[in-house]
Amino acid sequence: MAAEWWRDAVFYEIYVRSFADSDGDGLGDLPGVRSRLPYLRELGVDAIWLTPFYPTPDADHGYDVADYVDVDLRFGTLADFDALLADAHALGLRVIVDIVPNHTSIAHPWFRERPEYYVWSDEVPNNWPSVFGGPAWSLDERTGRYYLHLFAPEQPDLDWHNEAVWHEFERILRFWLDRGVDGFRIDVAHGLFKDPELRDEREPFPVTAFSSDWRSAVDQPEVHPLYRSWRRLADTYDGDRVLVGEVVFSDPKRIAQYVRRDELQLAFNFTLLFAPWDAETIRRAIDGTLSALSDVGATATWVFENHDVPRLPTRFGGGADGLRRARAALLLLLALPGAAFVYAGQELGLEEGELDDADRQDPILARTGGARKGRDGCRIPFPWSVEGPGFGFTTAAPWLPMPASFGVLSSASQEADSASTLALCRAALRIRRELGGALQWVEIGPGALAFTRASVTCAVNVDGEPFELPDGEVVLASEPLSDNRLPAGAAAWLR
Ligand code: GLC
Repeated sequence: MAAEWWRDAVFYEIYVRSFADSDGDGLGDLPGVRSRLPYLRELGVDAIWLTPFYPTPDADHGYDVADYVDVDLRFGTLADFDALLADAHALGLRVIVDIVPNHTSIAHPWFRERPEYYVWSDEVPNNWPSVFGGPAWSLDERTGRYYLHLFAPEQPDLDWHNEAVWHEFERILRFWLDRGVDGFRIDVAHGLFKDPELRDEREPFPVTAFSSDWRSAVDQPEVHPLYRSWRRLADTYDGDRVLVGEVVFSDPKRIAQYVRRDELQLAFNFTLLFAPWDAETIRRAIDGTLSALSDVGATATWVFENHDVPRLPTRFGGGADGLRRARAALLLLLALPGAAFVYAGQELGLEEGELDDADRQDPILARTGGARKGRDGCRIPFPWSVEGPGFGFTTAAPWLPMPASFGVLSSASQEADSASTLALCRAALRIRRELGGALQWVEIGPGALAFTRASVTCAVNVDGEPFELPDGEVVLASEPLSDNRLPAGAAAWLR
């Protein structure tokens, strides 16, 4: 296997319960993913990232893990996992799995049998809030003590100052590495160690912000020796296994600390995901990222969408304008130097689905008394075919209702249309293989972005006047072009 394959890989995020249902229970599962691998191969991604499929009581859809070394029966079995991995490898696709080390499920046997693995206090010791609303401390009725949970009360935080926790996770990582996974996505990677003095956070808390910038209790120095040890472990395996951290800060310099040479290979960089559709902001995000990461010799990553934020067409204004901008953003994403993450459905231009509160399942809705709707809208299952209500995702009722608009957006209807977002994404992934080298900006004018990498130029008209494209043959355009001019909300690649 090629060394450092992850440096320019395209990772495809699969929210397992929303991708493909093989057994007609309305929930996606591992055999479902396996049956769709040829689609991903055809799409042209390099690797898939599977969100948690471990046994879980589902307080946070699998990010509350009750057993780190098994598969939840609703998602399949370990044998199904092995079969999926073998098929993926046979197709040349790598597979990374999601590891959730910040917290377990309250149903994990450790919570009762190994209470010393968790963070306890006789009284509520500080003002820390939960990301999902309410305080980060809950009373455990059995012991009469309070335990820490940065997320839901059903997700107690582990105490990483306890070395036994290190050993447990080493065993867990080995379990999956021995099975042949190509690496891990590390959930809440910046959060594992908390301020040992449990000091108050500064109020008011902007808990609605996706970024942890405001939290001073996380991002503790002790996390770095841990990642060095994980990196050493990963490096004892062949095949260049990769560690990708979910490090949620808006300043790339803070992210860079996690990807120094002997730590994680990659960390999510959410600067584009935080950016509005504005040329100056996007350019600053790109420059800031590239300079911070090159300082430590690391590769940049780029993300516009994931299972925690509203879909891009919706964020960029919705309707035809939102979709146009999301298509342009896809060409930008896939032209940037480094690794790119595409969230399942992004290649279809899926929009955020409208949902009734009664159908919503994200704990954020109830925990905030309805003030925040939660993340269900971007987790609606993937439409494979034109006919609802299951749109080829399931023969049963899908776990979240799928909107009628998903029919025309389905992969089947886009297959048949050479101007579709799916066709655009496929073509971009094919041509991307020719891209190489550093990014050189080409100055165009206000509202526009353009850069060259080797023989390919990517031009994006974010919100400026239509402009004349630079010299070269247009190999891909997100919109039909007239007179070689690029309208606002469009992007093109030239050779
Ligand atoms: C990460 C996940 C998110 C989850 C949280 C708690 O941010 O992406 O979905 O709710 O961690 O595990």
